Amino acid sequence: MKTLVLANHKGGVGKSAVATLLAHYFVVSRKLRVLAIDLDHQGNFSKPLRKSGRAEVAPVTGHEVMTSAVSSLPMASMVLVPSHRDLIGLERQPAMHTPFARNLRAFLAAMDHQFDVCVIDTNPNPDIRLIAALASADFVLSPVELAQEALDGLAALLNHERVGLRKIKAVLNPKLRLIGLLPSKVEATPFQRANFVQVLQQYRSLMIPLSDRVGDIASLPKRTAIAEAQADGALLWEVRKTAARDAWKEIEPSLARIADIVTSKESPNGQAAA
Ligand SMILES: Nc1ncnc2c1ncn2[C@@H]1O[C@H](COP(=O)(O)OP(=O)(O)O)[C@@H](O)[C@H]1O
Ligand SMILES: [Mg+2]
Repeated sequence: MKTLVLANHKGGVGKSAVATLLAHYFVVSRKLRVLAIDLDHQGNFSKPLRKSGRAEVAPVTGHEVMTSAVSSLPMASMVLVPSHRDLIGLERQPAMHTPFARNLRAFLAAMDHQFDVCVIDTNPNPDIRLIAALASADFVLSPVELAQEALDGLAALLNHERVGLRKIKAVLNPKLRLIGLLPSKVEATPFQRANFVQVLQQYRSLMIPLSDRVGDIASLPKRTAIAEAQADGALLWEVRKTAARDAWKEIEPSLARIADIVTSKESPNGQAAA
């Protein structure tokens, strides 16, 4: 099982939307067995998966897989370990942080043979949930919005003293790979275009190339159909509206590329995996 964490220290950037799209994509288009874990008390990954009717909801929550020893789940092609409101309180129990991280790691290890891919959605405030997820994951993907304050937050995502990716990789989890930054909710306004160019220049090495063409990188446009599918629990590519079809055509290459990386068909820098 490969574990992918959606992470960004900012809310509203599309983490839960991308987690939802990817979870369905892995099951439907790649025929993989998917474990979906929602560690955000807001539950914006759990809601659309429940509504879709395509996920078997586990009898344990994200809170329990961090606070106790859980070692079995129902058998299904997609199982959701849903959000729980008490997840917000884990940060306030510092003496238990190491056991929390160990519980999650042991749980993921126990699920290794039952699922092919695990998608973990996280909360924006950097805390023990994010640390525990990153400490046990194979991959991290960071949706980013092209607004100035979001760009300022990128430095924290990478270099934060406690939960920065560099620190986690160096201290807790050397196998963690940053798939990259995924510009999301991208609009065609001149302001965003200017920001896009700026981000590309500043963070070029962290973008996810789709081809050898300069500037051909994975990104998700801002489309009402994506937000609607998220709210309705619908699969974007099954929605019979032109706007949904068009949105799907735009985002499919980016999801496919991310799925290829997670399933190890390609390494993050675009070279074939050894
Ligand atoms: N590509 C997109 N186009 C339009 N709306 C989007 C897109 N991605 C996310 N949204 C919407 O933006 C809001 C915030 O997205 P969400 O995925 O919940 O962010 P996060 O998990 O980072 O807080 C939600 O209402 C969601 O449906
Ligand atoms: Mg979210």
